[in-house]
Amino acid sequence: MDLLYGDRTRILEFFHSHGILVDPRALEIILHRNAGPLIENMLTDPVVSQGYLSESDILDVLRNGIKQDDSRFEINFPDIKVRSSVDDFRGYFVSRYSKLKRIIALSSAMRGSIPIKLAKRSQGEVKIIGMVSEVSTTVNGHRKITIEDMEDQISVILMKGKGVSRELILQDEVIGIVGSVSQGKTPTIFVNEIIRPDVPARIIEDTGRDPVYVASLSDIHVGSKTFRDDDFRRMISWLKSSDSDAQNVKYLILSGDVVDGIGVYPGQEDDLEILNPLEQYFKLAEYIREIPEDITTFIMPGNHDIVRLAEPQPVFPDRIKKEFPKNAVLLPNPFNLILEGRNVLLYHGMSLNDMVELIPGLNFDTIGRAIEEMLKRRHLAIKYGGKTPLIPSQEDYHVIDTVPDIFITGHVHSHALGNYKGVRYVNSSTWQSQTEYQRMMNFNPKPSIMTMFDLHSMSTIVKKFQAME
Ligand SMILES: [Fe+2]
Repeated sequence: MDLLYGDRTRILEFFHSHGILVDPRALEIILHRNAGPLIENMLTDPVVSQGYLSESDILDVLRNGIKQDDSRFEINFPDIKVRSSVDDFRGYFVSRYSKLKRIIALSSAMRGSIPIKLAKRSQGEVKIIGMVSEVSTTVNGHRKITIEDMEDQISVILMKGKGVSRELILQDEVIGIVGSVSQGKTPTIFVNEIIRPDVPARIIEDTGRDPVYVASLSDIHVGSKTFRDDDFRRMISWLKSSDSDAQNVKYLILSGDVVDGIGVYPGQEDDLEILNPLEQYFKLAEYIREIPEDITTFIMPGNHDIVRLAEPQPVFPDRIKKEFPKNAVLLPNPFNLILEGRNVLLYHGMSLNDMVELIPGLNFDTIGRAIEEMLKRRHLAIKYGGKTPLIPSQEDYHVIDTVPDIFITGHVHSHALGNYKGVRYVNSSTWQSQTEYQRMMNFNPKPSIMTMFDLHSMSTIVKKFQAME
């Protein structure tokens, strides 16, 4: 990192690799006021990590220092009211569109993109950025998409037999189109190329420092009759052991469905060991108190938890919070965490159900592909109005503003560990045996697996705690 202080290109590359745009005036300030040594830590500053470093952000950092350290685990999350007026929907989609448009416009292939209104009056090649509002197949087997921007919409055609026709297009995703306009009865664009927001390909950098592990567990389902209590205890004993890998675990992530809840599906009472959801959390808190004090445990909700189902989901209420020890930090879902300078994106993963339906040939055993499609679209829940209830707030919190170093999901009880263009990702197992429902669906979960990421070398360890059966 020392090499880049004072080097314009490398400073820009550094921020870009973390998905942050730098205002040219901010860059001049970094260069001329020797702010280079600060930039690595700037990633933890909540203002900077929003994806855009402005002149005022950098002046603020120089004046007041970086907002982190003791307060870095103070989770501030806006209180989002559940509303659904036309204005709310508009605000939500405007936010989604503008954030993703800004990312797509970074691509050199999109240089010179114009509003749809203008494209409709153009000749020859045009570049537009819009949201997919409709996808259909014409009688001749071509695919027809309606694309909208803030003012207008246009039909675009993916010709059968062209490479681009094989592209998976999802409703409500934002894409860049390069194509030629045809001025027929209604102007239409014939597509040559589709540009996705995507993540820039990166090489994973090893800081060379001693390992610090973040360990990921998901879908614990405490309270269920099929919660794998023995495996979970074995995992905690290992964390407490003198094993050198265990000693290096500093963070633990519980990415939702930490308890089984109640009333999540019809007849769930028959599957519950602990009926009262509060008692399920008390039981979980007992386990967390067993975890060594120097490990910070982050706990977020999922669809089985006690908070509202619609995303973004808030943190657990105080009644539950006060049961947990001091080293437990409650998070909303989704959430972006900065650990040791690495960006760790956490999402329980309800939308993976939608993705399994939308992506031909995909199933829960090949869920890594769905995770990659999310990263490619820089969005955690593309489909609005599918199986994932989303709150139409004025900001779309599911846009992946900043490129994560690690992306953790759960929900489908599978285990998929991968690397997409330098983003390490995992679907993080479960601590529940096959449920009746899963048996019906012919799905075999992959339980009792802990996935560990070394925040310095970015290498991974998969630890299995499943008893021999
Ligand atoms: Fe879930």
